[in-house]
Amino acid sequence: MGMTDEVDTKSQPVQAEPKVKDKEVADMDCAEVPDEMESQKKRHLNVVFIGHVDAGKSTTGGQILFLSGQVDDRTIQKYEKEAKDKSRESWYMAYIMDTNEEERVKGKTVEVGRAQFETETTRFTILDAPGHKSYVPNMISGASQADIGVLVISARKGEFETGYERGGQTREHVQLAKTLGVSKLLVVVNKMDDHTVNWSKERYDEIESKMVPFLRSSGYNVKKDVQFLPISGLVGTNMKTRVDKNICPWWNGPCLFEALDSVEVPVRDPKGPYRMPIIDKFKDMGTVVMGKVESGSICEGDSLLVMPNKAPVKVLAVYCDEDKVRRAGPGENLRVRLSGIEEEDISSGFVLSSVVKPIPTVTEFTAQLQILELLENAIFTAGYKAVLHIHSVVEECEIVELLQQIDPKTKKPMKKKVLFVKNGAVVVCRIQVNSLICVEKFSDFPQLGRFTLRTEGKTIAVGKVTDLPSRSSA
Ligand code: GTP
Ligand code: MG
Repeated sequence: MGMTDEVDTKSQPVQAEPKVKDKEVADMDCAEVPDEMESQKKRHLNVVFIGHVDAGKSTTGGQILFLSGQVDDRTIQKYEKEAKDKSRESWYMAYIMDTNEEERVKGKTVEVGRAQFETETTRFTILDAPGHKSYVPNMISGASQADIGVLVISARKGEFETGYERGGQTREHVQLAKTLGVSKLLVVVNKMDDHTVNWSKERYDEIESKMVPFLRSSGYNVKKDVQFLPISGLVGTNMKTRVDKNICPWWNGPCLFEALDSVEVPVRDPKGPYRMPIIDKFKDMGTVVMGKVESGSICEGDSLLVMPNKAPVKVLAVYCDEDKVRRAGPGENLRVRLSGIEEEDISSGFVLSSVVKPIPTVTEFTAQLQILELLENAIFTAGYKAVLHIHSVVEECEIVELLQQIDPKTKKPMKKKVLFVKNGAVVVCRIQVNSLICVEKFSDFPQLGRFTLRTEGKTIAVGKVTDLPSRSSA
């Protein structure tokens, strides 16, 4: 789903083909292609919208597309009418992102919506995650593709509180996002226009002061990695332009577009070994796989491996958004047409990988886990079974051995032997899966070495891969 029929895709910039003759390109190493396009091109960031159900993620995402000129007034009027017919008047902006009938009827995002927009410096892919707790797995898949997050919080009376409570998705989403490699967060305090808020500085400060210690305890460096700002996603206030002093005299900070524009993320290595976890695949004049490049670059004509099967493939074509490109680097969401493999032989969770330095494949690894919230009466011990989510992999797993408990204060291993742990514990353990999966050590590739464990639809732990068996490399 995402932006399909309703939006004027023609307004999106068309990328120019690099002015290099085919023959020259064919003779050159991919990394040497003098890609003129590359230098003119804006940087690209994937931004995931997260937060509790009904916080206004889809509304804010929709408003961004409207303000950046991608949705015309006529379409908005159509949505207003449709929303009214469904007795969901205020949901018309969310309809820009929520494109399927179930989502529109219920007013809840189910699948991760996808759309593109640009600011002065950056091309963004918006990933609009669902907030409802039933769809956390979809949220995880959205967050695992993202570089930065926009955490949407409702300032409306009672709504901030419900989202922030234990069991609310504000907390769960933040912890998941951090684990999944979302390095920076913009925390937007939304619904500032609501009559229970009325752009109140007290309310804004209250929310910020409650969120800061929590964000810190989730591992975010609040000074460096987090920025707060007030908005109204529904009205579109403090989004493309700064809020009028008549509405909000106390805000002197940036608007959302400015904040997005200036987010800094660590540069990724375009020369690293190629790694692209596959999130989806289909047949279209060959086999097409979709995913985000986590490391390295890809070029038409490249020979690669589909791991863990070690299937040799050739790259027939590379598509970035709607455009065919000759080459693409890390951070890009791509569709890649391959020869040498059938669509049936690929599953999501497989990784398109460099031949020279293929991604390790394992059925077991060592990890450091933080236990968040176990199901009632459950204890975490050897034999515990859960579902492992690591990049695009979803697999049943079992904890085979607890090795050490870590003292959360000193961060050092505790001496006594550990047989079981409870909520809040940090523990090093061995984890097993039934079939081969592709993983990396967190210290080598954070994005491919962070994971979550879930049972019965709840996230019970987050973790990072600390060690792989010595014979794990392909
Ligand atoms: P899920 O996808 O179900 O998690 O929800 P969401 O976070 O995408 O929320 P959505 O955008 O669907 O909005 C939920 C409700 O909040 C709708 O009725 C919106 O009109 C309302 N809403 C969103 N943003 C604002 C805002 O800035 N001000 C006011 N007053 N209402 C808002
Ligand atoms: Mg939504």
